[in-house]
Amino acid sequence: MNTKVFENTTENIEAAALIIRQGGLVAFPTETVYGLGADALNPEAVARIYEAKGRPSDNPMIVHISRASEIGQLTPFITQDMIKLIDHFWPGPLTLVVKKKDIVPLRTTGGLDTVAVRMPDHPVALDLIRLAGVPIAAPSANLSGKPSPTKANHVKDDLMGKVDAILLGDDCRVGIESTVLDLTGEMPMILRPGIITADSIEAVLEKPVQLDPSLKGLPEEELVAKSPGMKYKHYAPKAQMLVVEGSRDKVKAEIERLRLANEKIGNKVGVILFEEKAFIEAAHDFFSHLRELDGQDVDLILAGALSDTDGVGFAVMNRMFKSAGYNIVRV
Ligand code: TXA
Ligand code: MG
Repeated sequence: MNTKVFENTTENIEAAALIIRQGGLVAFPTETVYGLGADALNPEAVARIYEAKGRPSDNPMIVHISRASEIGQLTPFITQDMIKLIDHFWPGPLTLVVKKKDIVPLRTTGGLDTVAVRMPDHPVALDLIRLAGVPIAAPSANLSGKPSPTKANHVKDDLMGKVDAILLGDDCRVGIESTVLDLTGEMPMILRPGIITADSIEAVLEKPVQLDPSLKGLPEEELVAKSPGMKYKHYAPKAQMLVVEGSRDKVKAEIERLRLANEKIGNKVGVILFEEKAFIEAAHDFFSHLRELDGQDVDLILAGALSDTDGVGFAVMNRMFKSAGYNIVRV
């Protein structure tokens, strides 16, 4: 397939919107990571996303809208909680899981009767959705299993020849994917942590928010999957990766020791060690560091764990553990 690479002029965004309307695939920038979009209401178009990414087809997608009121197309009713969260956090990196209307194909929701909706905080994304005139289903614009793309070049590296068009933009401001909040249960529950934290959601809703139990500790599925042929490989660099967890000084010392020992046996080693408490910066840089180190063909990545139990650092650690396939050294 001949992939068009578009600067994000109005004319080009219009051309990209036409591609979406006709059932094609367009990668585009958002404030979190780049997305790979298709008409969310067209099951054949959505099926093409799975194909291009090489992604298992039972994975539900986030549906992106350009005006908050458009959520009414997708869900049969609105609640006070939804109104408060939308008023406070949209446009922005918060995805709401709500009941779906029949118009939303099961192909888009991975067979679920709920739909994940978000209004991105990015002018190119918003123009694209508005001009397409349909909600846009978009997972991150990487090949399945690879680190999420935070720069236009990451998208080109993964998807040239596999999608109809790539809309170029700046580096993504946030760098990790949106917080996913399920509003269909008795209590709101965070399914995926992001830079919008449980604390900030609780402050807006004035009630407690739960964390999906699988986010605490190591999900059993992942432990099983650690055995050869790891079933779910997420965000993985080409290199082997090891997370070193513990108090700051010990982590630094252990990373240095492991680096020397591994270099001695002939490994090329890369290190990811963020400033203590620089969580926002860590979120911004984490995925691009992984891709950079892959570009340098390192054999092993040693990463220092961030200590944070529920905030932005926790959201970064959720990605870091997955990237490392849960290879963790505690010091
Ligand atoms: O920041 C983001 O959210 C980016 C940009 C492009 O908007 N998109 C993104 O999409 O990260 P994706 O497909 O990589 O992640 C979608 C997440 C998955 O964790 C999926 O399980 C969850 O949202 N999800 C989607 N629909 C759901 C539903 N109906 N119920 C529960 N979880 C759902
Ligand atoms: Mg993804």
